[in-house]
Amino acid sequence: MTSEGGINPAREEALTAEVVRAFASADPRLKEILSSLVTHLHAFIREVRLTPQEWRAGIDFLAEAGRITDDRRQEFILLSDVLGASMQTVNVNAPSDPATTESTVLGPFFAEDSPLADNGEDIARGAPGSPCWVEVEVRSESGEPIPGARVEVWGAGDDGLYDVQRSGEEMANRAHFFTSSQGGVRFWGILPSAYPIPVDGPVGKLLAAAGRSEMRPAHLHFLITAEGHSPLVTHIFVSGDRYLATDAVFGVRASLVAEFEEHGADEEGPDGRTVAKPWYSMQHVFVLANKPEQKPARSAGADANLGDC
Ligand code: BEZ
Ligand code: FE
Repeated sequence: MTSEGGINPAREEALTAEVVRAFASADPRLKEILSSLVTHLHAFIREVRLTPQEWRAGIDFLAEAGRITDDRRQEFILLSDVLGASMQTVNVNAPSDPATTESTVLGPFFAEDSPLADNGEDIARGAPGSPCWVEVEVRSESGEPIPGARVEVWGAGDDGLYDVQRSGEEMANRAHFFTSSQGGVRFWGILPSAYPIPVDGPVGKLLAAAGRSEMRPAHLHFLITAEGHSPLVTHIFVSGDRYLATDAVFGVRASLVAEFEEHGADEEGPDGRTVAKPWYSMQHVFVLANKPEQKPARSAGADANLGDC
């Protein structure tokens, strides 16, 4: 084997093989994952010819992420998000049928214990922003409406904050519904606004160093679960948002961008309500993939087997 300018391919390849062999007796899935991880990690180090200083900077970055992480703040998931690893995990696990609604990241602001709301209710509960009338329908792949599906919805106010980020506040602009006999859910919420992901930690420094935007385009989150169907974790994005092409977490899918129609202050809402200020409306149909086998029912988040992507 040749050796040029500090590059000794035989020595480097032998080390990779040795480390892969060290995991040979792990259980088959662990072995598969670790062998691939080691192979790709070594290939990366060799490709960029990582210096000791750069290796140390990487270690310090991860240590800083660990220090800022606690029960409420998960910097490693944020890192996964901005590297596109969360969205790629969503991609490899999402149903492949193009007729079904596309999935995207869950994000850190889902809460297991959202209030139950009735169809037609105002779920804003004081969250700041313009009123928005939302009508969604949940259907199966065959086009049949799915009655009794659980629809979790949550969104930020126009201050860019979720209720769980405003300490001591009640849940606002967040609820769960069950679809009507026609598979529908309708409610008053808040027009979504673009907002920044948390940038006061190492991930923020990384984005700044790379000249990347920390903004997420305006969106409303949905988690839909129904018996006999795969859970759907998705967003609806606001058409025309300036950050659609530069989402910090790569969560945008063109099929998830919807029109939010503007209405005048004096125009009556679909439920006969007048809100005395300009308001918006959005309609969307969600199509759930069939799930061949049923697992025993658990809570919405756990049943969805979501992890935190
Ligand atoms: C969110 O949409 O809520 C979100 C997703 C990933 C990182 C930060 C926020
Ligand atoms: Fe969000």
